[in-house]
Amino acid sequence: MSTATFGPGPALVGRLRPPPDKSISHRAAILAAMGEGSVRVSGYLDADDTRSTLAAITALGAGVQEIGPSEEMPGGIELEIRGVGLRGARGGSGEPLPIDVGNAGTLLRILPGWLAGQAEGTWVLDGDESIRRRPVDRIAGPLADMGADVSCREDRLPPLVVRGASLRAVPQTLDVASAQVKSCILLAGLLADGPTTIVEPAPSRDHTERMLRAAGVKVTARDLRTLPGLGGPPERRIEVEPVARLHLGAIQVPADLSSAAFFAVGAAIVAGSDVRLERTGINPTRAGILGILNRMGAASWVEDERAAPGGEPVGTIAARHGALTATRVTGAEVPIAIDELPLVALLGCFADGETVVTGAEELRHKESDRIASVVDGLAGLGAEIEAREDGFAVTGSARLRGGIIDAQDDHRLAMLGAIAGLASEEGVEVHGMEAAAISYPGFERDLRTLTGSGLL
Ligand code: S3P
Repeated sequence: MSTATFGPGPALVGRLRPPPDKSISHRAAILAAMGEGSVRVSGYLDADDTRSTLAAITALGAGVQEIGPSEEMPGGIELEIRGVGLRGARGGSGEPLPIDVGNAGTLLRILPGWLAGQAEGTWVLDGDESIRRRPVDRIAGPLADMGADVSCREDRLPPLVVRGASLRAVPQTLDVASAQVKSCILLAGLLADGPTTIVEPAPSRDHTERMLRAAGVKVTARDLRTLPGLGGPPERRIEVEPVARLHLGAIQVPADLSSAAFFAVGAAIVAGSDVRLERTGINPTRAGILGILNRMGAASWVEDERAAPGGEPVGTIAARHGALTATRVTGAEVPIAIDELPLVALLGCFADGETVVTGAEELRHKESDRIASVVDGLAGLGAEIEAREDGFAVTGSARLRGGIIDAQDDHRLAMLGAIAGLASEEGVEVHGMEAAAISYPGFERDLRTLTGSGLL
């Protein structure tokens, strides 16, 4: 286990391009594997999670040629991926084919949608200790409804066994707004016997829908809220039509907003900071943290917004240090900021008043139980924070003492500790800093670039 110490100070100043988006990289590899012919993926995230996806599609028969590091996207690689076709995933010959997903929950939950609709083959998806605690009944249930042959440990946990079967188009109503579950069903829907509809309780990130549309699939989405001014449930209904084959064009992966968010939040809370985070994905179904920062009074905005090939909007995120006021994050804002809620807790430590997050019980099913790990971690650094069943409440005091935080093998907790250290009075020692490599292997180097020093 590696230990690293951060702060107090220095300020984050300057411009950088965060690493490529993890969610979009996973999807690019999986959809390219499902397609016909070769697809160029530019700026594929070179990190532990997304390496697991390349190994998985290779095991399934796809050809992955690594051309070299991306010149445009630091932390990314250029790939040429040759697909096996929608119905051509390699299964085990006799024995089931093992797929090691490592720590990648997105791979674990999305890939089975494709495998479930294969004419033959059996796969066993399994991963590390933390993946074994992550529920898969949320995908096993809908897939079984569609006629898939799936089973898992204690009806809930990995390993997940998937056998190819013919799929029916059965409408699905999701209990939780989960892009992973939605994406799994969308992929299964491509192989079903008619159009499949999914109703999610609130919009979750729509990267899969955008990429499928770019590949020629008919995917429609409609918000069911009929009386906008009067509130009402924010459900979204998505429909996907089956296809004979997928033709993906070249994909350019934007920088990861979830990685950029560490620096944007760091800039908001460390005196003297002023950063620009280039080419960052700002898809509105993902960018809730930007609205939260604004509401808290942070000096944060987006410059030179434009559309990237593949239908994802990108821009430069700007953030500066300033006074913050407390806020509440509830309901439909939770899924669009789900991975940044730990950072909202940190912002709350420096905001005037009580910052409250509710409706976020999903945080308990991430790489760690992120309600417990964030609350215990920040409390250990001197924060006035308490856990709730479905979130947390933090009272800001404009200061954080500092101390030691254990990353608990959770990449976002490791990086949270580092940023907390910069804003703290005594600095923070992060135990298990290597966890950051799951999504952001260059995190410490980039942080040094912005702090302009070896002062960390
Ligand atoms: C992801 C969706 C989210 C998010 C995860 C990545 C994705 O999970 O927390 O880090 O790529 O679809 P859920 O869909 O389970 O909320």
